[in-house]
Amino acid sequence: MRMRTDYCGRLATADEARAVTLCGWVHRRRDHGGLIFIDLRDVSGLVQIVFDPERSGDIHQTGHSLRPEDVLQVEGKVALRTPETVNPDLPTGEVEVNVTGIEILNRSETPPFSVEERTEVDETLRLKYRYIDLRRDEMLGNLLLRHQVVRTVRAFLDGSGFTEVETPVLTKSTPEGARDFLVPCRLQARKFYALPQSPQLFKQLLMVAGLDRYYQFAHAFRDEDLRADRQPEHTQIDMEMSFMDPAEIMSLLEDLLVGLFAKVNGAAPSRPFPVMTYDEALLKYGSDKPDRRYELPIVDVSGVFKATGFAVFAGALEGGGVIRALRAPGGGRFSRREVDELTQFAISEGARGLAYLFIREGLEVASPIAKFLAPDEVRGVIEATGAAAGDIIFFVADLAVVAAPVLGALRQRLAYELGLVRQGWSFLWVTDFPMFKLDEDTGEIVAEHHPFTLPTPETVEHLDSDPLLVRGSLFDLVLNGVEIASGGLRIHKPELQRRILAILGHEDHDMERDFGFLLEALKYGAPPHGGLAFGLDRLVMLMAGLSTIRDVIAFPKTQSGGCPLTGAPAQVDPAQLRELKVKTT
Ligand code: AMO
Ligand code: AMP
Repeated sequence: MRMRTDYCGRLATADEARAVTLCGWVHRRRDHGGLIFIDLRDVSGLVQIVFDPERSGDIHQTGHSLRPEDVLQVEGKVALRTPETVNPDLPTGEVEVNVTGIEILNRSETPPFSVEERTEVDETLRLKYRYIDLRRDEMLGNLLLRHQVVRTVRAFLDGSGFTEVETPVLTKSTPEGARDFLVPCRLQARKFYALPQSPQLFKQLLMVAGLDRYYQFAHAFRDEDLRADRQPEHTQIDMEMSFMDPAEIMSLLEDLLVGLFAKVNGAAPSRPFPVMTYDEALLKYGSDKPDRRYELPIVDVSGVFKATGFAVFAGALEGGGVIRALRAPGGGRFSRREVDELTQFAISEGARGLAYLFIREGLEVASPIAKFLAPDEVRGVIEATGAAAGDIIFFVADLAVVAAPVLGALRQRLAYELGLVRQGWSFLWVTDFPMFKLDEDTGEIVAEHHPFTLPTPETVEHLDSDPLLVRGSLFDLVLNGVEIASGGLRIHKPELQRRILAILGHEDHDMERDFGFLLEALKYGAPPHGGLAFGLDRLVMLMAGLSTIRDVIAFPKTQSGGCPLTGAPAQVDPAQLRELKVKTT
């Protein structure tokens, strides 16, 4: 005897009159005194099973005793439902199973929250009882989607000459801009492994080894502050290729994504994906990952105000700043209170204020600052922004590094408030990121991506004179305003790698200690190479239409890095620490 013959969710009218054995959980019970209906659930879905007092005799008694989440084995016969009892919302809604035998495989206590009802449940409770949370169909659906994505990507890469290689988890620091998680080494006292922030250096070494095309579904570990789209460990679809230029790499990835979306989502995005430089993205959208489902461009209007009498604008320009404008179509209907809220929002994002002009019929303007503006200035901004009656124009006057992100954030907020966000997928490549940036806290030069990026040929000459002008051969892929992948070409010559590390402040001595193995490897015929890594969690999150990656990770951590289910991170036995020669303070 097989334990089951069929999956609940797969029964259909073609199974009429078949004797089946099903296994699953009690999803819902409707007891009509005589007839008892139970939705039996397994991984494939639900089917209604019926206890009829006429037909099932004392089995009926057992039917009465069943409670949600009890685990059953049920024997029965598939029957067609009468037309008035067909449930069009259920894939198996045209059939039911009349129970002829039942075994309770296990009883369940009352679960801490209902699997059946779509109620909002506190996330910490969901994470503590994740195995129950994952029984809910949305959550199961997310895991199945994730699996589909992984399978489809793997099949594509396997078919495109890539070899999957595993790289170590106990390793040395691989800088990606976050703190390392460290693991003490018992066999070598006072020494630590670092968990990889990415497989970056190993994949480069695989290119030196002649692998040509590598991929891995890799766990990456980063000790950083967590957010909705950031976990301390995440999964990357990590890839590296030799002898390919950026256009070839980007084209291959578009093949991958178009195929993936066509297969898993049913709609292939159109290609080629648009490409924009980092500088352009920041100027026009105030972000290095702009959401292009809405246009709402930011316009630099500094030129319009170069001789302005409005002290706020004149002061910003004198201080080396800019005046940038954002037109909100239809924003003319905002109330004074709404504009004040938007002003507070801009200030919370770092602005010193938010000036605005309501555009009325006949292009009359209304604003507390209108009296300070010359008529040709008003005409100038209306022309530059393309504003029309019924719109509002917002202004931020500040240093470009402040004005751009403030207006970028405002742009995003306005798009949602004004209902301008289109449905669908909007892919965008953002290229030519700066190689370096100044660390806000220390004022030191740090890598924008990681220290192994190849400078673009057009900007490499500035390396010594003004490194902040140097751009990297980098390409990020943005989907609906979320950075889903990031990569670029790498340095394959040891001299250049040394120069870059030196600019980043590494003395010869610690360069050898930290990256000696890489510098050495680059001496032995390292090929030109490049690649990128997708954030798998983010990709699946977007495909599932969700707003946090926690919902597409089976066992994620909370905002504070904890696992309510296992209690990690946890204190350890003092004996374990002694063995590791580790003291806590
Ligand atoms: P990067 O650091 O940009 O690049 O990471 C690649 C992609 O991984 C995702 N990601 C994350 N997802 C969830 N939680 C996190 N904490 C997190 N951090 C990053 C993002 C990101 O685009 N070695 C390089 C790649 C390369 O150059 O090949 C790297 O790790 O979607
Ligand atoms: P004030 O002269 O400070 O009263 O500001 C006049 C208007 O300009 C107010 O609406 C402020 O919000 C706005 N404002 C002040 N500083 C800035 C700035 N740096 N950029 C844009 N608008 C500003």
